[in-house]
Amino acid sequence: MTEIIRVDEEKASIDALKPAIEAVRRGGVVVFPTETVYGVGADAFNRRAVRKIFEVKGRPADNPLIVHVCSMEQVENVAREISDDAKKLMDAFWPGPLTVVLPKREEVPAEVTAGLDTVAVRMPSHRVALKLIEGCETPIAAPSANIAGKPSGTKAEHVMQDFYGKVDVIIDSGDTPLGLESTVVKIEKDRVVVLRPGFITPEDIESVIGKKAVLYEQLKGKDLSKPLSPGMKYRHYAPDADMVVVVGENRDLVIRKISEVAISELKKGRKVGTLLFDDETHAALKKLENLVVIKLCGRDARKAARTLFSVLREFDKENVDFIVAEGRIEDGLWISIMNRLKKAAEGRIIQV
Ligand code: TXA
Ligand code: MG
Repeated sequence: MTEIIRVDEEKASIDALKPAIEAVRRGGVVVFPTETVYGVGADAFNRRAVRKIFEVKGRPADNPLIVHVCSMEQVENVAREISDDAKKLMDAFWPGPLTVVLPKREEVPAEVTAGLDTVAVRMPSHRVALKLIEGCETPIAAPSANIAGKPSGTKAEHVMQDFYGKVDVIIDSGDTPLGLESTVVKIEKDRVVVLRPGFITPEDIESVIGKKAVLYEQLKGKDLSKPLSPGMKYRHYAPDADMVVVVGENRDLVIRKISEVAISELKKGRKVGTLLFDDETHAALKKLENLVVIKLCGRDARKAARTLFSVLREFDKENVDFIVAEGRIEDGLWISIMNRLKKAAEGRIIQV
């Protein structure tokens, strides 16, 4: 049985969240909102409860979870050491969409960290998440709320679809405000490695600690058989449909290629969708309107981030077989959006 409770962010209180708090205390699993995406969580110190998270998600056991905290005291209970740089980042961006990888304390179960000697920690800013953790009086280990490999849940209907009947409580707080998962960073001696790009950009990080922030995916000589962040080796964010992303600086060429690919897939008898960001691209492809399912995420990066996962799920709902997506020049937040889009396409990129 799954209990559903509706709690709006401004009405968050320990009282309103009681069924979820009790479930966590009993060793249960709850779906809760954060400012980024929904999470599916349990008491981080209860290894049996943590194992249930992996079960309901179908998540490989070697992909570690983020531990969500509501206070610095809780950070100290899971991390062995918090460097000055880590403190600076926490002061600057917490509560908020930043996850910091720290040396772990022995008390944190190996299930949470997939046997690593580090733990990923984040203090979310969503009031429902904060009140939930406060009420549980324990850090909550939680990955994004989605069946492993699928787009993260950003709407209550997504998490209902994936987790109704599988978890103890679902907290419905409507749409998550940002829509894209947190930036995950690991601080090294002379640099910060951004394991997963998000709303907090490398420039934001550099401005706070004065060290170079490098994107993991751009590191040369990295050993791909041993990724720093285990989650990155898996198929991710992928809709059921096959997908390609068309990238290039010249918009006319991008438009022409999207149209070509769409028509060639249509000829194979497939149901085709196009995922677009730019109004001009949209206008130029209007002629395809009666043939393909056209969806627009918006040219504003914040709006695109908020709607991307939801739009990917909509294509599945409409039984689209093949999605051709418009790439964007990668700067600022678009780095993070394109990161998710390329993973959703499993790296199938057409450069024009
Ligand atoms: O915004 C978010 O971060 C959301 C919300 C619910 O907080 N959570 C989320 O969790 O996206 P998840 O499990 O989907 O992604 C966590 C990422 C994975 O890529 C995982 O491999 C990485 O963080 N990670 C976790 N612990 C790690 C560690 N100790 N070292 C390196 N990477 C780690
Ligand atoms: Mg995830």
